Amino acid sequence: MPEKFEVGVIGAGYVGLVTGACLAHVGHRVTLVDTDSEKILALDRGEVPIYEPGLAELVPGSGGSLNFTTELAPVIHGSDALFIAVGTPPRADGSADLTNVADVAREIGRELAATKHERPLMVVNKSTVPVGSGDYVSMLIQEGVAEVESNDGAEFQVVSNPEFLREGSAVYDSLFPDRIVLGSGCQQALDTMRSLYLPIIEQSFPSKFDPRPKDAVPLVTTDLASAEMIKYAANAFLATKISFINEVANICELVGADITSVASGIGFDGRIGSRFLNAGIGWGGSCFPKDVLALKAIADEHEYEAKMLSTTVSVNECQRKRVVGKLQRHLHTLKGKRVALLGLSFKPNTDDLREAPSLEIAGMLTDRGARVVGYDPVSGKAALRMMSALRVAFDPYEALEGAHAVVLVTEWEELRELDLHRVFSLMQPPRLFVDGRNFLEPHSVREAGLRYEGFGRV
Ligand code: UDX
Repeated sequence: MPEKFEVGVIGAGYVGLVTGACLAHVGHRVTLVDTDSEKILALDRGEVPIYEPGLAELVPGSGGSLNFTTELAPVIHGSDALFIAVGTPPRADGSADLTNVADVAREIGRELAATKHERPLMVVNKSTVPVGSGDYVSMLIQEGVAEVESNDGAEFQVVSNPEFLREGSAVYDSLFPDRIVLGSGCQQALDTMRSLYLPIIEQSFPSKFDPRPKDAVPLVTTDLASAEMIKYAANAFLATKISFINEVANICELVGADITSVASGIGFDGRIGSRFLNAGIGWGGSCFPKDVLALKAIADEHEYEAKMLSTTVSVNECQRKRVVGKLQRHLHTLKGKRVALLGLSFKPNTDDLREAPSLEIAGMLTDRGARVVGYDPVSGKAALRMMSALRVAFDPYEALEGAHAVVLVTEWEELRELDLHRVFSLMQPPRLFVDGRNFLEPHSVREAGLRYEGFGRV
């Protein structure tokens, strides 16, 4: 029988909520803490504030093995492992702002000093933090301990446990991860954390998620700094892989080659791999932009110029501008032209608009005098709140009425079913279809009478 842990999760944001819900699902008793009382009340009632497939079923409200509270102190006292999953937003220079992590660490120290724990508390860092932050968190906890008079010290270990979950498949990624990474200088702490993750490592928890992988999940145990670096390196590599294929797609356009064939041709090479080779308007979201800039800032701080990371970012910026270039080539001027944007979330199956290419593209188009109408299955209203110049339609066809051009920004599966003949009849010349994700077959779009422009496609 796997050991049952008392787990506290601080921060009921994306990472905290998914992590907490999944740890409860595999058999631990979890309490999620957040300072946002409205959010906690909603979670108490079983209302999940984010759109994430599978999550609502794992959050039936307070009770059972998953509970919610705004009070941190009792959670610190009652936990074997305390996961820190608070936000580390980027500062103006790209570096991560650790204010939230620091506040929580000091509070942990103060509370730990006030009551004796039976065994060392595992303080697990899930937030993406600069390399070296694990030691900084230890120091801050000690500072908190020292603030309490007559403390007899407090036993704790800081462990880095980066998350690799993708929005839209966060629950699946947490329950069936490619690997689990644990970093600590203390072997005992690594052993304790291994026991906590055993149901996932051995895939021994009962689950209705099917099909599930059969193999055990690889566990990487290492020191604190390396674990923290793994998170940045993974995201920077993936962002670079996308920028690389986008650069090749841009060259394909010049020589008449097709990027989808090129990507499949190189992707079969096991050393390269076929995933994350989809060319288009580039990457966005809450992680890649923040983490690539943060890693660059870490390098800058040590007076190392991370040239590849700078290029990864600048290629990505160019991809958005290429959309404008493609529109200008066909529409000549954008002034007074009507452009429909299909899909507004930064990627499908999420309502997240952070660093969404749609908003950047909409901004560039309205700056040039275009009238922009957007459609998204879930994030339309939120996009409107973020960009007053944007009009939002209830369905894709309403967005397309009278449009001179359409840009498919986010590859929602429902857009595959677009009735292209209806699209033709709704639009006005030159009826340009810019496929920002190389999502549709060029010939089927052209067959309907529309002009097709993909990224690196003939
Ligand atoms: C990412 C990482 O995948 C995850 O491991 C990490 O924990 C958080 O950051 P996420 O931001 O949810 O996850 O999205 P992901 O599916 O990785 O896509 C990131 C961006 O890259 C999206 O904007 C997506 O549209 C873009 N992308 C992805 C491409 O442009 N081409 C591709 O081939 C793949």
